[in-house]
Amino acid sequence: MADKVKLFVNGQEVEVESGKNLIDAIGAVGIEIPHLCYHPALGADGNCRMCLVGIEDGRPPIVPACKTKAAEGMKVLLDADHIKKIQHDVMELELINHPIDCPICDQAGECKLQDYYMKYDGQKSRMTVKPVMKAKKLDFGAGVVHDQERCILCARCVRFTRQITKTGELGIVNRTDYARVNIFPGRPLANRYALNVVDLCPVGAMTSSDFRFKQRAWFLTKSPSICQGCSKGCNIFIDHNREKYKDDVIYRYRPRLNEKVNGYFICDEGRMTYKAENDNRLTTGIVSGKETGLSEAVEATRRLISEAKKTVFLVSPNNTLEQMYAIKAFAAEAGAALSGFSDGYIQEGDADGYLIQDDKSANRASFELLGIEGSKDGFDKAVADADLVISFNNDLSKSLAEADLNALLEKAQLVYIGTSLGTCASKAAVALPIASYSEDCGSLINIDQVLQQFAVAVVKNEPAANLIEVVQQLGGSVAGVKEARAGLMESVAALKDVNLEEVPEEGIALTDNEVSNVAA
Ligand code: SF4
Ligand code: SF4
Ligand code: FES
Repeated sequence: MADKVKLFVNGQEVEVESGKNLIDAIGAVGIEIPHLCYHPALGADGNCRMCLVGIEDGRPPIVPACKTKAAEGMKVLLDADHIKKIQHDVMELELINHPIDCPICDQAGECKLQDYYMKYDGQKSRMTVKPVMKAKKLDFGAGVVHDQERCILCARCVRFTRQITKTGELGIVNRTDYARVNIFPGRPLANRYALNVVDLCPVGAMTSSDFRFKQRAWFLTKSPSICQGCSKGCNIFIDHNREKYKDDVIYRYRPRLNEKVNGYFICDEGRMTYKAENDNRLTTGIVSGKETGLSEAVEATRRLISEAKKTVFLVSPNNTLEQMYAIKAFAAEAGAALSGFSDGYIQEGDADGYLIQDDKSANRASFELLGIEGSKDGFDKAVADADLVISFNNDLSKSLAEADLNALLEKAQLVYIGTSLGTCASKAAVALPIASYSEDCGSLINIDQVLQQFAVAVVKNEPAANLIEVVQQLGGSVAGVKEARAGLMESVAALKDVNLEEVPEEGIALTDNEVSNVAA
């Protein structure tokens, strides 16, 4: 428990955490101190002066809140006339040359300058001379597009490349009206986290070429979720929108703070995995190459299971804990062998010691918890005399060379219960579409043994059945996520003290030796 101090804000007593600067300490009890250059992951730079506050009886009487720690008995003034005047003046300075065209700026609706102008400024421009023109639409590389005219020179982006990625591609060059953020000639942004500068930029000066001008921020529903691009399990917002008469579409992922997992940031590859949720989806059943409804595909699969001499259930390291539990229970009931073989999801040597991991699956840690064996040897033994393999969203084409997959499919039929079109769906005797993770809910355990949960974010006009429902239709006994959670809490020793119905937002560390490599 952090130590507390009592101080006064505009004469009102508040209790806040000691050791924090005034922006964070007072912000935590719901009182905003406007700020532009400060960011908790980057520290205080003190360059924007938007956070200046009065300290009654203090020497000096006006201080930057980002650089001032909360202290016992401190008397902080936010609403005094001289503080309001400072805020007006700083806003006026920031807006001297800033384009006044919020309606056509990609950041409108989530811009600090726009919000602060409305809240703390509201004055008309006194400029009578032509504003300084600067370069627009500069390609900084890595999908980042820069608008120098909108930049307020807060240096957040520059500090990110120096302090977090330590790649230093960005700098502020020149002085006064000529000062600009820029890259070094011929040396664009080239780090795997570059798009975080778009989220960090408090204004519309850094935009993503992938997202810019595709949606207005206020139309987006921002649903908390977990990236499933690798075993780190970074926390994200899924920003999506269902336009009139159309389907719910995901437009971007953004990082969501979780100190236990990813801090403030996510990697660029993970950020772009939203595309697989929108595109190339398996949306109908397929039986012997012909499109069908789900019920025909379920019926065909039930027939194959009843006729098979030996069936292997192939679990995916991306299945949720609840899905794995339901599949494992069904395997026992149906007398099927179980394998989690998925070597192809691992890219040896790709991890970077920060967030990105070798294992490009989200929940391999649950294999161990449920005793699901994932080795190639185990798989080879299981399929040696099998005539039916049922893949539960495991893309076997990632782990087997084409010739080996074809050889396997000469002696065994494949049923693919999955989310995407591709090799497995096209080679399967039967394919059944299921909801993808953005349309489903469940628990994941990341590489550091942090158990986290995500909820349904996207609801399609014609929702696909979720995997547990399909398992049940095929004959499995687990009725849904709730029942799977009850079964897990009862049967898995590591979960005996965990209430899976009430996992806190930041997750639960299942072991004491949780390794957190979140530098920010
Ligand atoms: S581009 Fe954005 S983050 Fe970078 S200095 Fe300018 S305003 Fe700040
Ligand atoms: S590090 Fe992994 S989990 Fe995090 S954003 Fe990247 S791919 Fe997603
Ligand atoms: S936030 Fe304190 S000076 Fe910018």
